[in-house]
Amino acid sequence: MPHEPRIVAFLCSWCAYSAADRAGQARIEYPQSLLTVRVMCTGRVEPAFVLQAFREGADGVLVAGCHPGDCHYLDGNLRAAARHAVLVRALEQAGIEPARFRIAWASAAEGERFAATVREMTEALRALGPLAYSARALEGVGEALEDAPVPLDASLARRAEYPPRAPGKPRVAFYWNASCGGCEEAVMDLGEGLASLLERVEVVLWPVAFDHKRADVEALPDGGIDVAFVNGAVRLTEQDEWSRLLRRKARMLVSFGACAHMGGVVGLGNLSSPAELLDAAYRRPASVSNPDAPLPGGPVAGGAGLSLPVLLARALPLADVVPVDYTVPGCPPSPAIVEAALDALLGDSPPPRGAVLAPNVALCDGCPRKGSRPERLEVESLRRIATSAVDPERCFLAQGLVCLGPGTRAGCQPGCVEAGMPCRGCFGPLDGVRDPGAAMLSAFASLFAGGEAEVLALADALPDPAGTFWRYSYAAGLVPARVRPASEEDEG
Ligand code: FES
Repeated sequence: MPHEPRIVAFLCSWCAYSAADRAGQARIEYPQSLLTVRVMCTGRVEPAFVLQAFREGADGVLVAGCHPGDCHYLDGNLRAAARHAVLVRALEQAGIEPARFRIAWASAAEGERFAATVREMTEALRALGPLAYSARALEGVGEALEDAPVPLDASLARRAEYPPRAPGKPRVAFYWNASCGGCEEAVMDLGEGLASLLERVEVVLWPVAFDHKRADVEALPDGGIDVAFVNGAVRLTEQDEWSRLLRRKARMLVSFGACAHMGGVVGLGNLSSPAELLDAAYRRPASVSNPDAPLPGGPVAGGAGLSLPVLLARALPLADVVPVDYTVPGCPPSPAIVEAALDALLGDSPPPRGAVLAPNVALCDGCPRKGSRPERLEVESLRRIATSAVDPERCFLAQGLVCLGPGTRAGCQPGCVEAGMPCRGCFGPLDGVRDPGAAMLSAFASLFAGGEAEVLALADALPDPAGTFWRYSYAAGLVPARVRPASEEDEG
C-alpha cells in the first residue's frame, strides 16, 4: 500500500481553522492526512515547533492563517511568513525539499481554498515519499544515547553520585577532539594563572603540552581523574573512544568550548555527507596531490594492520556520546570563564551537576551598544559586515546586521561586540532553550519591516540561513544532518 503522508497543520483559530471547519460542513473532500494544531495566530508558530513536528514523524508541515492584512493581531501572519521563508531555505540546505513546509492563507469563508491547499500538498508529498527526518537526525549518534531527542546535557540524569576523590593534588586532564585548537589556547591564555594552576593540580593528560600516552590514562583507576576538560566535537571513531575512556576515568567530565558543547563550526559539516567531506578535503583540492594516501578509515601502508580512524556519519556534541557533568561555553571560552570554572570545580563544593558555567543572561544585557537600541526594532534592509560601513556605537540589529546577542549567553567579554563584530552565538543559548539557531532565526526574521513582498524579499536576501543562525549549534539543533540518497552517494 502506498505511503500516505502525515501533515502537521498549525491553523490559526480565526481563519484557517474555521476554513477547515467550513470545508467539513460543506462536505468538501480533502485527504485525511492532517494532524491539526489550533493556534491563536500563525505568528505563534515558532520554527522549533516546525522542526519538532518533522522530528516526530511528519512528512510535511503546513502553517495556515488569515490573509495578509487580515491578521487579528495586526502582523502575526507576516512574522510567520518571514520565518517560513528563512526556515524553508535552511531546511533545503539540509536536503529537506521546500514542498514539505508550506505556508498558506485562507479566510474563514474559504473552505474550498483550504481543501485545495491540503490536496495539493498531499499530492506533492506522495510524490516525494516519506521523510525519515528523525532517523536522519540521529544518524551517527553513539550508543550512549538511549532516548531521542535529548536536550543539551539532559543525559546527566542517568548518572549516580560522584565517586570519592583520591587523596593528594586533584588530577586534571585536558583533551581535544575535533576542534581548531583555540580551546587549548584559552587555557594557555591564563598566563600567570596557568603557573598557579600547574602548582595546584597534577596534570595526567594534556596532548598539547605533555607526552602522556593513552596507556597512561588506561592505567588510572576508574574515577581516578578529578576533572577532565574535553574540547571539540566527536567526528572520528578515535574521538568517540577517547570520550568514553575519559568519561570512565573522570569524576567530573566537562564539555569545554562551543564544539564540545554544541558541535561548533565543526557541526556545519553535517550539512554535507561524509563522502562529500572526504572529497572536499582529500580528493578535489588543488593543493593536495597524494593519490595513494589512505583516507580516514583506510589502512596505513606498511602499518602492520594499522588503519586510520573512521569518519562518523556526523559530528556530535560531547553530550550526545557520553553524559557530561558541566559545560564551559564559548569559542573559545574567555580566560575569566575558564578561571572561574577551574576554581568552582576544584573547590570543595562544585556547582550543581549539569550547570553551564557562565552567566544565565543574554549578551544584549551587558552590550555597550544597548543604549542605542530603539524601542521598536525593525530591519528595513540587510547589511553585511564585510561590505558595509558600520556605526561603531549603534546596535547592530538596528543597522540591519545579524547579531545573535539577544539569544546568546553572556560571558565572552571582551568579545566580538567590543571588537566591532556582531555576536555569532558561540556561547550558546540561555537555560531552557532547546535549539538556539531556531530561536534566533525566529527573533531576527520577526524584525523584518514592510508588507508581504518586502518581508519575503528580506528573507530571500539573507545569505546562508543554516550557517548564520546555527553557526555553532547545528550539530545540537533540531535540523538533521544531510544524508544523500544512495544513488547520489554513488555518483560522488
Ligand atoms: Fe490569523 Fe494572525 S490571527 S494569522
